[in-house]
Amino acid sequence: MLKTGFIGWRGVVGSVLMKRMQEENDFSRLDATFYSTSQAGQKAPSYIHGSKRNLQDAYDLSSLRTQDILVSTQGGDYTEKVYAKLRETGWHGFWIDAASSLRMNKDSIIVLDPINAKQIRKGLASGVKNYIGGNCTVSLMLLAIHGLLEENLVDAIQVSTYQAISGAGAEAMNELFQQFDYMTRQMLTKDKVPAKGLGLEKDIHYALTHCDLPTNKINGVLAANLLPWIDKAVDGGRTKEEWKGHVETNKILDRATVIPVDSTCVRVATLRSHCQSLVLKLKEDLSVREVEMRLQRANPWVHLIPNERQDTLNYLTPIAAADSLKIKVGRVRKMNLGPEFVQMFTVGDQLLWGAAEPLRRTLKIILDRNETL
Ligand code: HSE
Repeated sequence: MLKTGFIGWRGVVGSVLMKRMQEENDFSRLDATFYSTSQAGQKAPSYIHGSKRNLQDAYDLSSLRTQDILVSTQGGDYTEKVYAKLRETGWHGFWIDAASSLRMNKDSIIVLDPINAKQIRKGLASGVKNYIGGNCTVSLMLLAIHGLLEENLVDAIQVSTYQAISGAGAEAMNELFQQFDYMTRQMLTKDKVPAKGLGLEKDIHYALTHCDLPTNKINGVLAANLLPWIDKAVDGGRTKEEWKGHVETNKILDRATVIPVDSTCVRVATLRSHCQSLVLKLKEDLSVREVEMRLQRANPWVHLIPNERQDTLNYLTPIAAADSLKIKVGRVRKMNLGPEFVQMFTVGDQLLWGAAEPLRRTLKIILDRNETL
């Protein structure tokens, strides 16, 4: 059995990965060691099958290098501190990572196997050792429009995202809860009786703009608000999250012709599941029905929602998509921009298909391959 070390398994993405691995009985196929950046020596989780050892030190290169595979959901800072030093020790194991640090490196493959299984298998055969999960919105978008991509029908993409706070990690989630809590406490304590309608809006607006809300993690007030900026600035007036949309999409698709992708990425006060409003320029004038048929049949996860009021309100929402592998696609319609333009709205759990699931499936591909070698 391949020795597999897990780092960051208690974080937001890590916990979702652990849950999925237990559901799929993946731990029975590997020899697991759990690492910790802060609690080495403590007991490993008993609820996870295969955790025979105490927690190992996640910075101990001599321990890490005993593993055949390392799976990190610890975040980019950890990858940047440890990865290069570990390779310098001569370690040749598989590095599977959710963080973006290594994604665009030549010796890394961005993994999303329903789309690029061939690229992954070719990489394994040719000795590639780094398999990195893609940006959450990119993975969810590619799965949503898989049916149009596989027939090479997409000429260009414009995306507006609505990204949940869990995409920013557990501390940001807690800060949003604190902001909401603060907001409601301000409302209730002012006159003991909350105002209504515009009066209530005025009270809340005052609390959000004049009071000392915690904003260190989110970098702004998100309660009753939205923030059209995610990550740091890069060239061309874009944020890094928006830049990823173009470069990662094209690295995963790995085609001779680049598909231009432009995005505006927005943090909203939802908890889990990222939404995207997509404008696609197609290479052909397809009817709504023709587009929907292609989307529906491309993979087992796309769940088409009829472009009707109640279906949309019930099923095409972050709440409806949370904790599910379904990629919901709805509001499919033609545009006034021209006959080759089509728009749609999609929502998927960014912690599952957007982060943990491609890592889990890559690990499985490596284990399967090892068993047949
Ligand atoms: N960058 C994403 C977000 C996290 O901020 O929501 C998932 O890749």
